[in-house]
Amino acid sequence: MPEFVMSIDQGTTPTRAMVFDHAGRTVASGRKEHRQILPRPGWVEHDPVEIWDNVREVVGVALSRAGLTRYDTAAVGLTNQRETTVVWDRRTGLPVCNAIVWQDVRTQQLCDELAGGGGPDRFRAVTGLPLSPYFSGTKLKWILDNVPGVRARAEAGELLFGTVDSWVLWNLTGGPDGGVHATDVTNASRTLFMDLRSLQWDEATLAGSGVPPAMLPPIRSSAEVYGTVHGSQLLRMVPVAGILGDQQAATFGQAAFGRGDAKNTYGTGCFVVVNTGPEIVSSGNGLLTTAAYRIAGQPPQYALEGSIAVAGSLIQWLRDNLGIVGSAAEAEALAATVPDSGGAYFVPAFSGLFAPYWRPEARGALVGLTRFVTKAHIARAALEATAFQTREVLDAVNADAPAPLRELKVDGGMVANDALMQFQADILGVPVVRPRVAETTALGAAYAAGLAAGYWSGLPDLAANWAEDRRWEPRMENAERERRLRLWKKAVTRTFDWVD
Ligand code: G3P
Repeated sequence: MPEFVMSIDQGTTPTRAMVFDHAGRTVASGRKEHRQILPRPGWVEHDPVEIWDNVREVVGVALSRAGLTRYDTAAVGLTNQRETTVVWDRRTGLPVCNAIVWQDVRTQQLCDELAGGGGPDRFRAVTGLPLSPYFSGTKLKWILDNVPGVRARAEAGELLFGTVDSWVLWNLTGGPDGGVHATDVTNASRTLFMDLRSLQWDEATLAGSGVPPAMLPPIRSSAEVYGTVHGSQLLRMVPVAGILGDQQAATFGQAAFGRGDAKNTYGTGCFVVVNTGPEIVSSGNGLLTTAAYRIAGQPPQYALEGSIAVAGSLIQWLRDNLGIVGSAAEAEALAATVPDSGGAYFVPAFSGLFAPYWRPEARGALVGLTRFVTKAHIARAALEATAFQTREVLDAVNADAPAPLRELKVDGGMVANDALMQFQADILGVPVVRPRVAETTALGAAYAAGLAAGYWSGLPDLAANWAEDRRWEPRMENAERERRLRLWKKAVTRTFDWVD
């Protein structure tokens, strides 16, 4: 049996390939960022061809850094930015337009129309989701309605739809030459088209949206062999055996397999996921109901999710749009030069507000400014925004859950920032715990693939790999925490109703 598992993590900002060993340790990795294409306010696109090129490149980098070949690789797991929508020609492999990214809010009007008299929760009972431009369904409808010729080609059976997992899987397994068109339950549960109970496409919703069912991928489990690699010589014939949307992958990588287990991943956005076991729990507090994972032959597991659209991407915005820092590390260093945000609060409602508010019309606001405020305070306010948003999501989780969360497991790029994690514990009032492998998203996809390939024997095998790296205890006085939270909530209200 080969000794390693490869994970491909196609995220909103970077694409990564990581090689893991049996103990769940990272052996080597490759990473590359792709372009963020921003044609108009509120629109965000990616080039799917660039993404696929980057996948192949980072796989090569990871293998060569590890000094490994395909013969050392037991299986490949895929994880991905969710909801981002690609439509391509099954014969040529060419996308019909850029991918519409999950952050893109161009379909707000479409959502309002679909809601009709039923309101934004019209599809929630079946799909677990509110009608929001966040999800793939209306993005696909937008492409069908707006890109010339696409609807006719889709109806003629020439085009395929997929979220990024499907796009990468299809290319990895051969593209136009026999590529496998499939998705897993976690990604399908983010489209607005999947029935959470049957784990199949919901015909009524599809008909209501005018989407030809033939262009949708079959929905498979998260851990099974979908096919073997033919689209990359470096991994030729290695089985592709795991697919999980990135937040579910991080939950899996954190070994959060039990009911009530939770994690928060700090990436481009920030996502709290709470495992609810085989039970479909409906939130009364602005959380989504979603598929957590399904291992082939076993019952599906579900989760509640608090999605925050902007976290790391706010630091990227300070770098790329304002130019006040040269890198994320510089933002951290700059923020550390001041003890607090100087009274500034930054609510990054760039894609509207997600959980727990679901206000698509909201737009970002930087408030509390005086002449005292410097760019260091703004950098600090940008980092603190992530902690405040997480607190609001955790309040929603606690309101839905039978018992409050006693600690928060964290992962993702930003958890390397000790000051932010301390502030997070302070604002939550509960400890924050970081595992030894903080890149749990990639690890989770490796786990799913390794399970299906027989590399790991079962969930206890995976849980045994989890180990604590560091824990932050809350240190802030209650009164101070409550004061800051009050001001944050006030700042949030300043972003509402930002429409002409
Ligand atoms: O739902 C969007 C999410 O999957 C994106 O994750 O890690 O790219 O911020 P990330």
